[in-house]
Amino acid sequence: MKFFVDTAEIDAIAELNDLGMVDGVTTNPSLILKSGRDILEVTREICDLVDGPVSAEVVATEAEAMIAEGRRLAGIADNIAVKVPLTWDGLKACKVLSGEGQMVNVTLCFSVNQALLAAKAGATFISPFIGRLDDINLDGMELIADIRTVYDNYGFETEILAASIRSVNHVAEAARIGADVMTAPPAVIKALANHPLTDKGLEAFLADWAKTGQKIL
Ligand code: G3P
Repeated sequence: MKFFVDTAEIDAIAELNDLGMVDGVTTNPSLILKSGRDILEVTREICDLVDGPVSAEVVATEAEAMIAEGRRLAGIADNIAVKVPLTWDGLKACKVLSGEGQMVNVTLCFSVNQALLAAKAGATFISPFIGRLDDINLDGMELIADIRTVYDNYGFETEILAASIRSVNHVAEAARIGADVMTAPPAVIKALANHPLTDKGLEAFLADWAKTGQKIL
């Protein structure tokens, strides 16, 4: 499973990237706002840092304007994936941009039918939002499973990018189902390392080691 980090915070990306935990980055207008940075500048810095796909989202709502914005964003670096919303206009933009050889991430997906449309429009990635479905008492993970089944039924190559991941359990479940990629905030990725039995076991080993009176260095 590929790990994308869902942030526009350079330091957080760099820290995880140094550990080999970053296969790509996703941003959106809310994350750009949170970073307080200029979209073109910060996206360029992220692209310089990370080898994998870096999603940058258009904000126009009509296809022609989305395509123009997408081309501008794509000009930042070769590893840009232009992010478009799953609207009819977004699908038109996806078709045109992917036809030009551009990676496209279709975002704000909440149904298997939307995912089918994105695949047919040539999306590189489809981003189903797990957490936001859970927020309204639906089952985000069921959507990931349904898309996996449907894409496999027909051999669609669009990668399932599990998004709006809020917990370590979301990551494990998406991996079990076979999502190609997950994108999560840095804190969730770092929390994957935590286990109370690891902490407890380490504490016991260190206590015993202290009793030996030995040193390794
Ligand atoms: O990848 C999409 C993500 O940024 C949305 O997450 O937590 O705002 O639903 P959230």
